[in-house]
Amino acid sequence: MPHQVLNDGRRIPSLGLGVWDIAQDETAAAVLQALELGYRHIDTAAAYGNERGVGQALVQSGLPRDEVFITTKVWNTHHGREKATASVHQSLERLGLDSVDLLLIHWPCPVLGLTTETWETLIDLQQQGLARSIGVSNFEPAHISALVKATGVRPVVNQIELHPQFQNRAAFEFNRQNAIITQAWSPLARAGDVLRDPLIAQMAARYGKSPAQVVLRWHLQEGRVVFPKSSNAERQRENLQVFDFQLTREDLQAIRAMDTGQRLFADPNDSPYLEPLTPGT
Ligand SMILES: NC(=O)c1ccc[n+]([C@@H]2O[C@H](COP(=O)([O-])OP(=O)(O)OC[C@H]3O[C@@H](n4cnc5c(N)ncnc54)[C@H](OP(=O)(O)O)[C@@H]3O)[C@@H](O)[C@H]2O)c1
Repeated sequence: MPHQVLNDGRRIPSLGLGVWDIAQDETAAAVLQALELGYRHIDTAAAYGNERGVGQALVQSGLPRDEVFITTKVWNTHHGREKATASVHQSLERLGLDSVDLLLIHWPCPVLGLTTETWETLIDLQQQGLARSIGVSNFEPAHISALVKATGVRPVVNQIELHPQFQNRAAFEFNRQNAIITQAWSPLARAGDVLRDPLIAQMAARYGKSPAQVVLRWHLQEGRVVFPKSSNAERQRENLQVFDFQLTREDLQAIRAMDTGQRLFADPNDSPYLEPLTPGT
């Protein structure tokens, strides 16, 4: 599995499995299936309510701990030192791990005024060995600049909404300039119109690939890390088979021109989602 090197020197597999919206009781089977297919990178979050399922799959797979890259996140209800610390300890207990590979602040939530304190907490938790690398999600350039100014510590990744219809250019470019890897969430735009777009369909036919494979390949060639969600074995397999072809410069450019600037989800500046995402999390 190809990888990228984070700005702290660690390696991250370029493609993984996202598990948002997979029910807790279906997660272990979906993740185990993915690990058996060759996935070595799982993106979960405290708020997804399925960390236990991820942990069960890791045990059932029998894979050595260091072979699988695990990300989790601190949700918006857990900003601030005490709550963020508790959240990470709970995540590790549910995952059955001593440390995660990557720990993220899920959203900046500027309205709470606790972003820097939460980042300082992640720095401390990393020093205590509970997270190997630390980063952020849904951060705009100004949010990252404020963290770096206050602490001197740069996130290794910024996980942001990014797909052909919403290419989030300012954040992507800022990340690139600051050696922060962009992880594209909802890389397939949640299997929306993009997978039925005639231009993508025509490219897919030309390469002998599926529309989803063309879109994932576009992300990879632009230097982003992706973790499409699928519970389905055939689609999980399909999403892995994106390392054996290369989009031309013209095709990359044609996909770049599909940007409508329309998000599928909320603007991080609006401090959205201040309630639990999954009841009880
Ligand atoms: N940090 C954040 O705020 C944030 C926000 C959203 C998502 N994320 C992360 O990003 C991950 C991926 O994003 P996402 O789950 O929103 O959306 P996505 O990966 O863009 O799309 C998932 C949807 O596409 C379908 N699908 C997957 N592979 C396909 C293929 N080859 N052909 C056709 N359909 C396919 C899936 O259905 P099946 O399961 O039926 O295959 C599912 O309905 C999440 O799981 C989560 O880990 C993070």
